[in-house]
Amino acid sequence: MDNNSIHGMWSSRLAFILAASGSAVGLGNIWRFPYLASDNGGGAFVLIYLACILLVGLPIMAAEILMGRQGRMSPVNTLRKLTREGGHSGAWTLIGWIGLVAAVAILSFYSVVGGWTLHYAWLYFAQLFGGAPITDPGATFGAMLASPSTLIFWHSVFMLVTVGVVAMGVEKGLERAVKFLMPLLFLILLGLLAYGFSTGKVGQAFEFLFKPDFSEVTGDTLLAALGQAFFSLSLGMCGIMTYGAYLPKDISIPRVAVTVAGMDTAVALLAGLAIFPVLFAFGLDPAGGGPGLIFTSLPLAFNDMAFGIPYAVAFFGLLFVAAWTSSISLLEPPTAFLVEMGKQSRKKAAIVAALVIWAIGLVTALGFNVWQSVRVFGRDLQGAIEFVASDIMLPVGGLLIALFAGYVLSRNITRGELSHLNEGGYKAWRFLTCIIAPVLVLIVLAAKLLG
Ligand code: PFF
Repeated sequence: MDNNSIHGMWSSRLAFILAASGSAVGLGNIWRFPYLASDNGGGAFVLIYLACILLVGLPIMAAEILMGRQGRMSPVNTLRKLTREGGHSGAWTLIGWIGLVAAVAILSFYSVVGGWTLHYAWLYFAQLFGGAPITDPGATFGAMLASPSTLIFWHSVFMLVTVGVVAMGVEKGLERAVKFLMPLLFLILLGLLAYGFSTGKVGQAFEFLFKPDFSEVTGDTLLAALGQAFFSLSLGMCGIMTYGAYLPKDISIPRVAVTVAGMDTAVALLAGLAIFPVLFAFGLDPAGGGPGLIFTSLPLAFNDMAFGIPYAVAFFGLLFVAAWTSSISLLEPPTAFLVEMGKQSRKKAAIVAALVIWAIGLVTALGFNVWQSVRVFGRDLQGAIEFVASDIMLPVGGLLIALFAGYVLSRNITRGELSHLNEGGYKAWRFLTCIIAPVLVLIVLAAKLLG
């Protein structure tokens, strides 16, 4: 049994927790969660989302980490190793391939949106020094989307900072970055939260987020909640599996999985409690805000509120940091894979992977303007890539991971990896992984494909 990965190892439990929560906490928490919650009726969505995290997210996260720690390689080769050693069908390697393709696809558009956050952070930063104010946020947002050069420039900057970290390796790159960036992220979030409380509208935000109105729940609410649980916890595409490959043997998987899922959920809720009071205080209705919510609604408030501009710099800085630590985890699996395939240096592998993903990202960037009228699956290009990768590949990947960990891997292996659980806890994990998670994911997938 190898006790170390050739790519490096986390130096401590804390390092893994910061890296994995850096992966989980991202645009999904601060950009996607608030608008999904407001578009889907608030409290009822949040409750269903929490149930998805507990019943599906947690067991699959534990499964990914334990598979990674058994294999100690990038997802494709981890699956090759596990199937070879266990005498299982090599077809399960598909899990690794799905993960790899999903990581590439997600990062290609994630980096473009990450670029938006940089662009906005820059626009507001410039205002501190006399730059032109954003008086018509809808027009500013539209102008950004209409400009290929703006989108491509910031997409390139975003990819550069991502590859800069990944090229440095697990300890000197990833671990060092998250140890600095995650505390920074929490600090900014706390500051924004304090501001939210000062508006006197936290009560309204609380009610909006936590008072369930089940009359608003439809099939779509369930789909959105489960999809968001996968996306937010970075599950189904083997990113967490890759991080698990660098986890020292003696660390308790259930404990880190609960911590990471808890932090991710806390940040989503706290981001809601920071953002909604500001919207309410300025009489802005979050419902139906869609993906533009924080780029078009929130800036309306920034112009009028006290310290609005520094607040905006902090807010988009927070979004950028959150997106950055997630994109690192999206670039790591393809990089590790290239290192294993070509026996080449990590630097070279990271740059090659980043270049390919950057080029695919151009499709997203141009889809907002030059190729605006192109439709795939009835969606614009970014929507189509996001649909296939997040809505289809993540749940399919997650389903296969649950089945593999639940039914294919020997009990000896899973029991050994989850040795920190008592017998009841292990049984509960098996029940969720073998039955509950697959059934729920299948229902949602079927509804999505047939609906
Ligand atoms: N979890 C990230 C977010 O919430 O923004 C997105 C993500 C990162 C998804 C990494 C998948 C992944 F592998």
